[in-house]
Amino acid sequence: MKKISINLNGETRVVHVEPEETLLSVLRNKLGITSPKCGCDRGDCGACAVLLNGRSVRSCLVLAMETDSQKIVTVEGISQNGLTQVQNAMLDMNAFQCGYCAPGIIISATELLENNSNPNLEEIKEALSGNLCRCSGYLPILEAVKESVKEDSHE
Ligand code: FES
Repeated sequence: MKKISINLNGETRVVHVEPEETLLSVLRNKLGITSPKCGCDRGDCGACAVLLNGRSVRSCLVLAMETDSQKIVTVEGISQNGLTQVQNAMLDMNAFQCGYCAPGIIISATELLENNSNPNLEEIKEALSGNLCRCSGYLPILEAVKESVKEDSHE
């Protein structure tokens, strides 16, 4: 067991972790953060994505011990002050059905929009290419990201 301290959604959290525990497991089972989902547990689906120091990572592939003193943001953190533009666009466009992939997609879209305020469709596709969705299809998801950029530019 090792004690680690992380900045999780703006708060310092201290937790004891086993050497083999993944960040996904610690977030869900020890820290009460349930937005990252376990879809495949091997880096294929993107459902477990979180922002680690501002970059999207698959939390099922990151050992919790490696995140000591690091900054982690999940959908809970992104939504602290209400839903973001891209989340509202996803809702408005019924982009999701079961919603299992939604947190990972929101993380990928958030990372994209923080680095590129006006991405084109190809850039959105590329940014979301690591997130699998099995039910709604990708078109409404891609369109919602594009729509959120349009809404932004009207402000
Ligand atoms: Fe981590 Fe699928 S659960 S990529």
